[in-house]
Amino acid sequence: AHGYFTYDPGFLSTASCESKITFIDGDAGILLHRGYPIDELAQNANYLQVCYLLLTGDLPNQEQYDAFRKRVTRHTMVHEQITSLFRAFRRDSHPMAVMCGVAGALSAFYHDSLDINDPRHREIAAYRLISKMPTLAAMSYKYSIGQPFIYPRNDLSYAGNFLHMMFAIPCEEYKVNPVVEKAMDRIFILHADHEQNASTSSVRLAGSSGANPFACIAAGIASLWGPAHGGANEACLKMLEEIGSVERIPHYVARAKDKDDPFRLMGFGHRVYKNYDPRATVMRNTCHQVLQELDIKDPLLEVAMELERIALSDPYFVDKKLYPNVDFYSGIILKAIGIPTSMFTVIFALARTIGWITHWLEMQADPASRIGRPRQLYMGTPTRTVLPLEQRK
Ligand code: SDX
Repeated sequence: AHGYFTYDPGFLSTASCESKITFIDGDAGILLHRGYPIDELAQNANYLQVCYLLLTGDLPNQEQYDAFRKRVTRHTMVHEQITSLFRAFRRDSHPMAVMCGVAGALSAFYHDSLDINDPRHREIAAYRLISKMPTLAAMSYKYSIGQPFIYPRNDLSYAGNFLHMMFAIPCEEYKVNPVVEKAMDRIFILHADHEQNASTSSVRLAGSSGANPFACIAAGIASLWGPAHGGANEACLKMLEEIGSVERIPHYVARAKDKDDPFRLMGFGHRVYKNYDPRATVMRNTCHQVLQELDIKDPLLEVAMELERIALSDPYFVDKKLYPNVDFYSGIILKAIGIPTSMFTVIFALARTIGWITHWLEMQADPASRIGRPRQLYMGTPTRTVLPLEQRK
């Protein structure tokens, strides 16, 4: 037994670290954040309450929540000079390329005053990141479409403020649609943390050397961008658009099964879940709710539902335990609420920032934590002598 759960010895040898934040049972399709099941959190909490939970270990009561929300809103603006940083990028840069740059650049604005050995300084860095990521994310979108940056509004909810910064324009009032706001908040919750995934492991490895937390988050953003990881939501929607109709699904399913074809069904499969991803279940229900409440008939949802039905009945996918994952439905919801595909992974990064920074804080607070140093099996050339240049053949 290890903590409250028992692990088979084989698993223990593969575990890279101990953590109290998130528990996943891939075979049973269980995801807990500090002991709370993800579907109950999505139903009965909001994203900022989940941030409080991940950071402190408990869900907040009303007084704690109000104080936390007020503290988060204190850092929502970014240094005005960061707007010039955006202008150094081409307008058609992928917003994830911009986010890698500007998140890391926060180090240049807050590095000097930050002593990561001081728990209070570490906490301030965490609040700055939770507060500023939506602002930076919305700025990366506004910059890409040539519209002016919209300042944060601290009177709005976390999700409402993000939507306002994304879609408001100076010359018109923008009203946040409560259905869209709720769906956005739920997407943030479902992407908040996920144990030692590639991007969180990148943040922990970067942080293990004592690097600045903003630079560590930039490492997480870079890792998340890959289509095998957080880039899958953008890739999944592009795949659904390429398939285009239910009639063309069998051709793509055949390609996904063909060993010689690199094509994979984006949004299917998972490194850990060999059962249904519990987040995908919540995302699927949210997807139907949003499309129904916004009265949107998206043909891509029809393709997605038929693709899911075929994949879940096809022995190839069933035997390989390839179920829809969190990225399968999120793209359809984001598209329905007006988010462009280029921003899908940026939103994943925004939501995952709380997970990244909580793991970084957990590692920094552990006196036993040491620099990460994975080892390897050397498969190269055996020892040999260096000949002077004139003697080499
Ligand atoms: C995320 O780690 C996390 O927690 C990540 C994440 C998080 O919240 O941080 O959950 C977010 O990244 C979700 C995953 C999003 N990625 C995708 O949807 C991209 C498509 N999926 C695949 O690239 C793949 O499933 C991975 C990368 C997710 C997992 O890759 P693995 O570990 O190689 O998958 P596996 O070992 O379970 O594969 C078993 C077999 C393999 O074939 P064989 O070698 O046994 O013959 O299934 C095949 C794979 O080739 N396979 C697929 C497939 N995924 C795996 N075949 C077709 N389509 C797929 N999507």
